[in-house]
Formats: sequence, C-alpha cells, structure tokens
Amino acid sequence: MSLSPTNSLRIFPEQWLDPIDFRKCFEHPEHPFEIDLGCGKGRFLLARARKFPKTNFLGIDRLLNRIKRIDRKIVRQNLLNTRVLRADGYYTVTFLVPPQSVETYYVFYPDPWPKGKHHHNRIFNEPFMDAIARTLKPGGKLHAATDHLPYFEKIHKLIKNDARFEETEPFVPSEDETSDFELIFADKTPGRCSFVRK
Ligand SMILES: C[S@@+](CC[C@H](N)C(=O)[O-])C[C@H]1O[C@@H](n2cnc3c(N)ncnc32)[C@H](O)[C@@H]1O
Repeated sequence: MSLSPTNSLRIFPEQWLDPIDFRKCFEHPEHPFEIDLGCGKGRFLLARARKFPKTNFLGIDRLLNRIKRIDRKIVRQNLLNTRVLRADGYYTVTFLVPPQSVETYYVFYPDPWPKGKHHHNRIFNEPFMDAIARTLKPGGKLHAATDHLPYFEKIHKLIKNDARFEETEPFVPSEDETSDFELIFADKTPGRCSFVRK
C-alpha cells in the first residue's frame, strides 16, 4: 500500500483486486474504522472526524473533484484520522473492504435515480446489503438518510426484511455535522433509518 504523497491524504491503492487492509493507512490502526459512502463535498465527514479523533474515517466518492477538495481540507486541518478514496462505493465495499472490519457505515443522500428506468443505478439493493453485512463487525451500524421519500421507503424495507440486521434508533447528525446535501434540502424532512449488524 502506498500511503500518499505528503501533500495528500488520499489513498492510492497499489492493486484493485484483493481486499485492502485500510487500517494500515492510519496513524492508529487499532482505532475503530468508519466509512462515509458517497461522502460528497465532505461536510459530514470532516465534522465527524474533528469530533472523534480516536476513530478512523474513510470517505469514498466516485467524483474526483470532490475527493480532491476534501483531501485539501483534511491536509489543511491535519486530520490524520481521515482518508479519502476516489472509487465506486459498491465495488469498494464488495471487493476491497475486508470482512468484519467496519464499525459504522454512513450512507447519506445516496443518488435517488428517480426515474423507474434508472432504478438499477441505485446503490441500495440485495448485493450491496450482502457486502455491507459481510464487512460490518457484529454490532456494527449502518445509518442511511435521504430526502427522496419513495427511495427511503425502499431502503428501509430492504434492510428491515434482512434477517442479518436489527433496527435501532435513527442516527440524527448534530447541526455542525449536517451534510452538504441535507443543507441544500433543508426545507424537506428526510427519512432516516439505522440498523445494527447482528
Ligand atoms: C447526493 S450526493 C450526497 C453527498 C453526501 N453524502 C451528502 O449528504 O452531502 C451523492 C454522492 O454520492 C456519490 N456517489 C453516487 N454513487 C456513488 C457510487 N456508486 N460510489 C461512490 N460514490 C457515489 C456522488 O458522486 C455524490 O457525491
């Protein structure tokens, strides 16, 4: 694993086919490992990382410019408990994240692909839940939120019907942690749900 040039805290994997021990990317590999999947512009990721310095955070997004912007911010803020990876989230969770290695997944405002003919692009589906179930530690959590209520209903039903998970109190970010998209859609009350891996 090449960590990164000194002016970057991005992860640049040396290979993309086998699981990556992401713990080695952090100063304190023994700290809990959490993933913000589709971290966007990173408001939530950065606020959370500042607040919990004894947790390691990985932000994943497929948009290069967003990852580069967050990277500059984590370097400026010297957030050594935070790394970013420019990659597809489904691919990463399915192939790169080691089994039972993740304490918490946050999936906030995933792209809703509102037209029926585009639903196959949505990240939440059964294979994705298999990957989440495989990579979460027992007792680990999955938090999801979206303003797109029909998609929320689908997400909620998908996970609720999955025997590997148990529903728990929805995670509500504090004001300073509100994600960029939640701020954009602040006039809408989002659907939120949280589940524990049994
Ligand atoms: C609507 S934005 C929400 C961003 C952030 N979570 C928030 O709440 O502000 C969705 C983000 O997920 C990213 N994204 C969508 N599908 C993805 C995928 N399959 N893998 C990685 N990132 C993805 C997009 O590039 C975008 O930045």
